[in-house]
Order: sequence, then C-alpha cells, then structure tokens
Amino acid sequence: DHRGIAVVGSLNHDVRLSVHRLPHSGETITSDALHRSPGGKGANQAAASARLGRAVAMIGAVGDDDAGRDITHRLAREGVGTTGIDVVDDSTGMAVVLWERPESTIIIAPGANAWVTGDRVQAHAEEIRQAGAVLCQLETPLSALGAVADLAAGITLLNPAPSAGVPLDLLRRFDVVVPNRFELAALAGAREAPRSVAEVRAMAESLGHPAVVVTLGADGCLVVQRNQSAAHKSSAAVHVRSVDVRAVDTTGAGDSFCAGLADALLDGVDLADAARWATQVAAATTTRDGALDSLPARAELPSPTHIRSRT
Ligand code: RIB
Ligand code: NA
Repeated sequence: DHRGIAVVGSLNHDVRLSVHRLPHSGETITSDALHRSPGGKGANQAAASARLGRAVAMIGAVGDDDAGRDITHRLAREGVGTTGIDVVDDSTGMAVVLWERPESTIIIAPGANAWVTGDRVQAHAEEIRQAGAVLCQLETPLSALGAVADLAAGITLLNPAPSAGVPLDLLRRFDVVVPNRFELAALAGAREAPRSVAEVRAMAESLGHPAVVVTLGADGCLVVQRNQSAAHKSSAAVHVRSVDVRAVDTTGAGDSFCAGLADALLDGVDLADAARWATQVAAATTTRDGALDSLPARAELPSPTHIRSRT
C-alpha cells in the first residue's frame, strides 16, 4: 500500500514497575504495582499507525514463547500485518519500565530483537518497497537500517531511540530523523543534552541532515530543516508548541509522535504541519496509562487542519 506504513523494529514484553523513586546503586526498593503489557518501540509505532487508520506491516522478530505470541496476536488485533514478524531461537525482547509517574526509566533486554539484521530485513523486502513510509528505531541492529535505506521507495523516518551513535552517512540515508534531546546529543557526539531551544537548533544543524524533528516533551518539538541548495547553506527552525494536557504516563509518546509524523507526511503536508499533528497524537498518548495501550485512535483526536483536503 503506497499510503501504508512499514515498521522495522522491536517488539518487547514490557514489565512496568510503579515506583516513587529510582533505587540507588546497591539498594533494593519495593514497587507498589506491577503491570505487564506488549510494547517495544517498533510494535508501539506500528500499533499507533494502525490506530491512525493506516495499513501497517511490522517487520521484526520474537521468540517462540508466550510473550512473543501475545504481542504478535495483539498487533494482529490492532490490524497490523504480522507476516514480517519472524520467530527466532531467542527470548522475546523485554523492557523493564520503572514508572515514576509520569516519567519512566527503561532498561531493555533485546533478545530476539537483536536478530533483526540487514539480511532478515531483506527477506521482507516487498513490504518495505511497497510502503509509503518506513519507520525505524534503534532497538534493532544498525544493519537493519542500511537494508531499509537500500529497499525503501517511500519516505524513511528514523527515530534514533534509545540513545546511540549512528554513522552520519547512514543517518543521511533517512529522509527525516526524529530524536529527543538526549538522542540528539548521542547522534552529535555531544557530552550533554542541549537545554535551550537555541542549543537544540545548533546541535540539530551540526548533524548536517536536511530534516530533523527534535521532540521536547512538554515543550513540543523543534523542526530544523536545511536549505537544500548547496550554494547557500542556511536552515529554518520552527518551534511547535505542545498542547496542554495532564500527563499521567509519557511512555509511548515518542512512538506515537513518529507514527503521527509519518501519517501526516503521507497526506502530503509539509514537515512543520506534520509535526503539529504528531504533537497532538503524542500529547493524547501521555494522558493514558501504558505504552501500546495508551495510543489514541484517530476518532479520539481533534481534527487536524491538514486533513481538511483529505479524500
Ligand atoms: O518507547 C516505549 C517503549 O520503549 C516501551 O514500550 C519499551 O518496550 C521500550 O522499548
Ligand atoms: Na502513555
């Protein structure tokens, strides 16, 4: 589906522990609530895209275990195509989410997600070639990104999460890069995350990438685009403010932001308008508990101005 989305990425079993604070090194603390749910940045972005009404194909890997079957069934129920999910000889990925309300600290055990290499992505080439947009993250190996860049005919978006360095030539093979401030610092090789919007802009520009959208949590996002003409190197930045919501759980907000961005770009709007829509989608995600469970359906969202012309 040339208006559809392919997601190449992780599927995790999320174990969320509700805590009042994080433990110190060497300390044991007791959580007041345990919650298990399907998650993983890839799976969340796929489900978020489906809830926005897109045809979605998920490419990834799970283990031959209950967690893997559970998340695959869940995605299928969300309307996501699951034939690109391979079953491999490893455990399904796991995320331990320490939830401090509304923020979380997350530790990942990649398991099967580490098997999503370039070769494995090549085996699902058709789904990637046919997609209007392809979403990737960094919970699967870097070689998967190269394969996506080789195969994709549509718009490619890279959410470089969790924080890791990515070779700049690989980064530039993606049309749009969507980091948060910490991930931006990792890409730029900076010691500290940028604080002010001006610092965020300067660091985004330092990547030399034509289109970077930096998510800023409650401060919305910053869209930094480079003027393509080689003669005049200039860039434009648009700060999109967030919508005012009462955040209870920010888990999944970055994922739904990426899905919202791809959704609007498939409607042909410019990057700043797409970022406005993505900001709405992400804000709605923070108002509900959980990751995959908290993703909004299109009908629950305010109608976006860019969709007026949609047929
Ligand atoms: O972005 C949120 C996700 O990050 C969680 O679902 C967890 O699985 C981790 O991958
Ligand atoms: Na949430």
